[in-house]
Amino acid sequence: MTYAARPLLFTLDPETAHTMTIGALKLRGKLPGGAKADVRPRLATIVAGLSFPNPVGLAAGLDKNGEAIDGLFALGFGSVEIGTLTPLPQAGNPRPRLFRLVADRAVINRMGFNNHGLAAGIANVQRAIRRGAGLLGINVGANKDATDRVADYVAGVTAAAPLADYVTINISSPNTPGLRDLQHGAALAELLAACAAVKGRTPLFLKIAPDLDPAGIDGVARAAIDHGVDAIIIGNTTITRPPLSAADKRETGGLSGAPLAALARQRLADVRNATGGALPLVAAGGIDSGAEAYARLRAGASLVQLYSALVYAGPGLPARILRDLDALLARDGFATMAEAIGTAA
Ligand code: FNR
Repeated sequence: MTYAARPLLFTLDPETAHTMTIGALKLRGKLPGGAKADVRPRLATIVAGLSFPNPVGLAAGLDKNGEAIDGLFALGFGSVEIGTLTPLPQAGNPRPRLFRLVADRAVINRMGFNNHGLAAGIANVQRAIRRGAGLLGINVGANKDATDRVADYVAGVTAAAPLADYVTINISSPNTPGLRDLQHGAALAELLAACAAVKGRTPLFLKIAPDLDPAGIDGVARAAIDHGVDAIIIGNTTITRPPLSAADKRETGGLSGAPLAALARQRLADVRNATGGALPLVAAGGIDSGAEAYARLRAGASLVQLYSALVYAGPGLPARILRDLDALLARDGFATMAEAIGTAA
């Protein structure tokens, strides 16, 4: 599947194409009736106490600053996660830092949390119209030069929680040196306790890397349960390199898209085993079809998120996934999505 604007966008460098896409989505959100979620009764679901009109969400990183929230909901997403936002604006890594691996339907990025900062992101959220029923997640992180990273997350959760339906703590970007160390041991416990103390009633999601080993996954699962995390997102981009063919395959950064699917599926199963179903799970990584979304739900995810597949399949993708997922559930006799979750775990 492709889309009309793809030939033009693919002649541009990826970051310019991204900027143009955000611009187009901003306009889309301003159209009358623009921001409605795709409502299909079979696909509505309650996760972490929140009513999602459907389980297909936009993963963080596409709309880091929350500039195109309404336009993104207009594509049919049940949830849109903006960010990662850091307390202070930061420029991110030098360009080029975003690479399209067309032959692999993949992306490598080393953006490095480029964003306009928490205050600007929050102002955009306040400006969004949000006519539809879709839920808004705000994903927060730490500035590269932060001397106290936990304090950065606390600032993020404190600012985001009053406005977000859920807040995601992102400790799994590979492009901020040392950030992933927060996924372990005392550092993780300290971070989760500090964030839980300021979240109020807003659910807290934790986003982890698909590169954690079994011991790391057990540790995250235990800490998340102990500290009342509401859901785990599995996961972010990978620093591993499955076989790739595109010219840019040796670029440094996080890999996403189709070649990440197998690893992300395996880690979802691992986290499901480690948590024993005690926490809702959100699957991300290489999801590009109704069949793939369905497989993740059956493997134990309550929700799915995607980003890279949009680059290749275009703005019609969320609606197609919803239609196909609905049909697959009907085919297998599930009256509601909730009945299907974990049936293949
Ligand atoms: C990302 N991702 C990401 N995640 C996050 O938590 N904060 C962020 O700022 C970003 N930024 C970002 C930029 C770019 C260019 C890409 C491609 C990805 C990761 C993203 O949310 C998702 O977890 C992975 O990309 C895996 O899903 P897909 O892309 O394979 O569907």
